[in-house]
Amino acid sequence: MSNNFLRRVDLIFDKDCDFKQVLQSAYQKSNDEIINELLESGLKGRGGAGFPTALKWKFTAEQPDPEKYVVCNADEGEPGTFKDREILFQVPMKVFGGMAICAKAIGAKEGYIYLRGEYRFLLKELESQLEVFHALLDEMKIPFRIKIIMGSGAYICGEESALFESMEGDRGEPRNKPPYPTVSGFRKKPTVINNVETLVYSFMIFRYGARKFKELGTADSRGSKVFSVSGDTPKPGIYELELGMTVEQFVEEFGDGDTKAVQVGGASGFCVPRKKFKDTIIGFEGVPTGGSMMLFNSSRSMFNVLHNYLEFFEEESCGQCTPCRVGCQQLKLGIEAVKKGEKHANYLEQLQKLAQTMKITAKCGLGQSVANSFFSIVENFKEEMIY
Ligand code: NAI
Ligand code: SF4
Repeated sequence: MSNNFLRRVDLIFDKDCDFKQVLQSAYQKSNDEIINELLESGLKGRGGAGFPTALKWKFTAEQPDPEKYVVCNADEGEPGTFKDREILFQVPMKVFGGMAICAKAIGAKEGYIYLRGEYRFLLKELESQLEVFHALLDEMKIPFRIKIIMGSGAYICGEESALFESMEGDRGEPRNKPPYPTVSGFRKKPTVINNVETLVYSFMIFRYGARKFKELGTADSRGSKVFSVSGDTPKPGIYELELGMTVEQFVEEFGDGDTKAVQVGGASGFCVPRKKFKDTIIGFEGVPTGGSMMLFNSSRSMFNVLHNYLEFFEEESCGQCTPCRVGCQQLKLGIEAVKKGEKHANYLEQLQKLAQTMKITAKCGLGQSVANSFFSIVENFKEEMIY
């Protein structure tokens, strides 16, 4: 078990970075060298799912189609997650830089940032930074351009294939996968789509080298990560921390002395109860997270917490597939009935079967991940669910 991982790191927000020099040295490498450096670093996607970033770039680079794209997923919508907003606000050039290095590795000429509708207030500054960035690319004779496309406030458009549909001007509904975007993404062309934070880490790996990045974290969870900390904490905010800490270590640092649960990974993540703090690692070997860490103290009703998540999912489900469209609604109505005493406590087992069915049969990550918070809250806080 880890015992010294709660280290604050300053890789991403470090402003002392010779941007041009990093880009230049990356562009001096061959496409394979870029991908190998990234592979060596062990970087995994920071949106939450943790797919190896280098493999995405490699699979896209291998596609023979000359029309390829880099897309930055800035549709940060997971409840409790606000770290990409801060990254875009503080270090946008590093996001653009990560996209430019990816473009070189895969052979793309165009990149897009899909910006969450609620982050429109960032647009003006991002566009002005893009002008500076494009001027630098011109000076370096790099044939790459980035455009920003605004979202309109739908959570589901953070799901990559719904995001492409939205970018193409259609209703934001997830596609069937496979094919993955590496083969058929934006405009059905090979596309790398990475989270904002993943792109910044990619850029920073070319500043510091894979070795330095690998020195941080664990074998399964290399490097550091940016966390959005909220809820019952005296220290809400954004923190870049080394991966590999336990929930207990996190709570010691950020709790208010009365923490009874930590929701890791937002509404689609897992709720860790106090009895499991010690043995649960925050990372891909334990509970993965896109960055959302919500702390709840004993004044909170976990029934209300779960009810709130289910209301959210019911509202945000695109309605395309039955398990999710009907399942979200039935889970919410089901826990309400148990809480009111209209259904016996055993009914929770039926609801767990429904959540399990959704995990297996829903078309996309939204419907599939409802079971994460449902199971972890119902199993660990059953006494709070019943009449
Ligand atoms: P996924 O596990 O299906 O895929 C992860 C990524 O790897 C995707 O980009 C996918 O295209 C790629 N991938 C997977 N297998 C591949 C293959 N064989 N070849 C090429 N590419 C491959 O997860 P998904 O559905 O994209 O995302 C779900 C995750 O997103 C969940 O873990 C959830 O926590 C997180 N999430 C994050 C949010 C945020 O605001 N950051 C919002 C909602 C969910
Ligand atoms: Fe839409 Fe939900 Fe089905 Fe995803 S799981 S496609 S959000 S209905």
